[in-house]
Amino acid sequence: MNQQTPNMTRPLRATCAPGLGPFLAREIEDLDLTVESTDHTGVMTHGTLEDGMKMLLHLRTAFHVLQRFADIRAVDADMLHAETKRLPWERVIPADGYLTVVSSVNNETITNSMFANVKVKDAIVDRMQEVHGKRPDSGPRGDGTVVHLFWKNDQVRLSLDLAGTKLSDRGYRRIPGKAPMRETIAAALLMETGYDGTTPLVVPMCGSGTIAIEAALMATKRPPGLLRSGYGIQHLATFDEDAWRTQRVDAKKQSTGKPGAPIIASDIDPAMVEAAKKNAVTAGVDHLIAFHECDFSQTPLPDKAGTVILHGEYGRRLGDLDELKTMYKRMGDFLKQQCSGWNGYVFTARELAGAIGLKAARRIPFEHGGIDCRLLKYDLYSGTKQPG
Ligand SMILES: C[S@@+](CC[C@H](N)C(=O)[O-])C[C@H]1O[C@@H](n2cnc3c(N)ncnc32)[C@H](O)[C@@H]1O
Repeated sequence: MNQQTPNMTRPLRATCAPGLGPFLAREIEDLDLTVESTDHTGVMTHGTLEDGMKMLLHLRTAFHVLQRFADIRAVDADMLHAETKRLPWERVIPADGYLTVVSSVNNETITNSMFANVKVKDAIVDRMQEVHGKRPDSGPRGDGTVVHLFWKNDQVRLSLDLAGTKLSDRGYRRIPGKAPMRETIAAALLMETGYDGTTPLVVPMCGSGTIAIEAALMATKRPPGLLRSGYGIQHLATFDEDAWRTQRVDAKKQSTGKPGAPIIASDIDPAMVEAAKKNAVTAGVDHLIAFHECDFSQTPLPDKAGTVILHGEYGRRLGDLDELKTMYKRMGDFLKQQCSGWNGYVFTARELAGAIGLKAARRIPFEHGGIDCRLLKYDLYSGTKQPG
């Protein structure tokens, strides 16, 4: 149960989009935390509240950081309420705060997880009323203290969500574009390509600019968490303002000025180029990206080879499939004819992968917005070596 002192370590679970667990695990190890287990949607570690702060500021592929508060047993909603009410919530939740309960529930007596959320919320505010004579406001906003309920059969885990709203909402994508890539997926696929800012990166079809912006943040070691201001942790009674300030200052210090090589982004749609530029301004990296309005095949390539990443439309959401297949064939031709010597990547829905017409050296599965996607890697040899 949660009796926190600043140096006490507690179980921390970072959650992520399905499939990003291995990327997240690597990031957590880079923060000098021990990875205890990795699964499809998250990573378990242990740490202090300061470690939690580090995770919030530095992780590029995480959604939430859950600090375990208590494990209890409940067979039904009444027991859930009673057992939750026994816990010392007043130690972590301010009486004048705003509370949101979110959940993942798999219990045969519960058909609607909202009902379980309400039971937990009622138990917490009843407890606070008894202890403080005052109850926190509550509702769905998620911008105050956030309690996460995981309930499977009779096992209940209650955690404090140190992030609050999803960490993938970095705050820079004010103009989302037509079919934007989630920021955490963009970061993961850049990690997969081995991108570190020392060689050029070209992102034709950049849309709202997510891949280029995430690349600029990575190349200059800017922690993405510095871009947003509101976190669940700031609404805990245990929040240490000084430690948070120190962590933010340290995080800022690690940023370097410029990437070692150019980042180029282009799109055929002038509105998208404008949106990407504005988003890059919000992220503070507009001066690190060269934007162009053109067909992907006209994107200017630096002399020195690097990495090119194309994220085309999928058809299910935009455009017609046959037309798209023609475009994917053109994308394959562009890679083969103009990008020899480069590391070529296409991110797309699995069923469109074949339309590119090149033999992929690797096909890395990603789930994006519920769509089965692939990051296809092409070794684009110079001269006649290119297969396919
Ligand atoms: C799936 S979206 C890219 C989303 C982007 N990764 C993001 O996060 O916003 C595909 C983009 O390709 C652009 N596009 C479509 N046809 C194009 C072409 N022939 N040349 C260049 N861009 C094109 C669209 O305008 C759209 O912005």
